[in-house]
Amino acid sequence: MLIFATSDKGGTGRSVTSGNMAYRCALSGKHVCYVDFDFGSPTAGAVFNIDGAQHGVTGGGLHSYLLGDTADPERIDIFSRADRLSLRDRPPGSGRLVLLPGDSGGGEFPSSRELVRRCATLFDELNSEFEIVLVDLSAGRSYAAQMVLAAARERPEIPARWLVFHRWTQQHIIAASSLVYGDRGILETGVALGHDREQLLGSLRFIRTAVVEPDAQGLTAEQTAWVNDCNAALQGLARDRGAGKLAVLGSVPLDPVLQWREQLITNRDLTVSRIANPQTAEAFEELARLLTDDAAWETI
Ligand SMILES: Nc1ncnc2c1ncn2[C@@H]1O[C@H](COP(=O)(O)OP(=O)(O)OP(=O)(O)O)[C@@H](O)[C@H]1O
Ligand SMILES: [Mg+2]
Repeated sequence: MLIFATSDKGGTGRSVTSGNMAYRCALSGKHVCYVDFDFGSPTAGAVFNIDGAQHGVTGGGLHSYLLGDTADPERIDIFSRADRLSLRDRPPGSGRLVLLPGDSGGGEFPSSRELVRRCATLFDELNSEFEIVLVDLSAGRSYAAQMVLAAARERPEIPARWLVFHRWTQQHIIAASSLVYGDRGILETGVALGHDREQLLGSLRFIRTAVVEPDAQGLTAEQTAWVNDCNAALQGLARDRGAGKLAVLGSVPLDPVLQWREQLITNRDLTVSRIANPQTAEAFEELARLLTDDAAWETI
């Protein structure tokens, strides 16, 4: 199954959340591949703690593959290559977790027929080898999004789902909704490429990232009341913009570790060093489960 991760704004938490979802999917026994299609800034290697690939690899990455310079894009096995002890050694019962990085010097490039063909071929190969192929796209109305929409249209037999990440703020809700429903958004671009609008919409869910609970401790009574009003207003805005509860796959709480460093939250972070909040890992685990839960994806 292909999972496309996108967001309208940059810095939403798309890569860190996707990386952690991929990790939790692998821990649950699935073979997972993470494809870094953030062409302008391929930094997924940093989230997975891969030394030497923190801003893509030197030649032989996804840029080189799509441009026809290599037949086999580089693959990095996370459980054997991560530069972090708690990620080393695939835990018993886990699936594989493989990163396909971009090229360090690569940038954005316009989609073309040839690129779409190569991209579709890559999807064929990865889909036959991995249960989950998570594709992290560039933010906004990107060439990457256009290319994968076209490639997915060429491979209707491969199940595909879309995740739209956004923070829990006014601007982020408006932007995420516009990326889906607005001019040159995912639906409009998809339909122009031959996708069925309702089917595409049914395969798409929003994920709210770094959400602060309104009743977070340490607020005065006045602050709590104000924050609750704000939260209610955001709920209304999200509902009116088609990003309300029914269209949401889940949300991830603000986590102190992720606020300071982009990384995978391992069980060691929860039980030994106890630096991460268990609710954060539970949210990633639940999202990982929902990715392949058909009931969660019934048409809105
Ligand atoms: N649940 C969370 N709690 C606290 N901080 C978070 C959370 N999720 C992500 N972050 C932090 O937010 C920042 C942006 O996250 P990330 O890099 O994943 O966003 P992105 O949408 O992929 O950005 P870009 O568009 O630059 O690729 C990072 O510093 C990350 O660690
Ligand atoms: Mg990113």
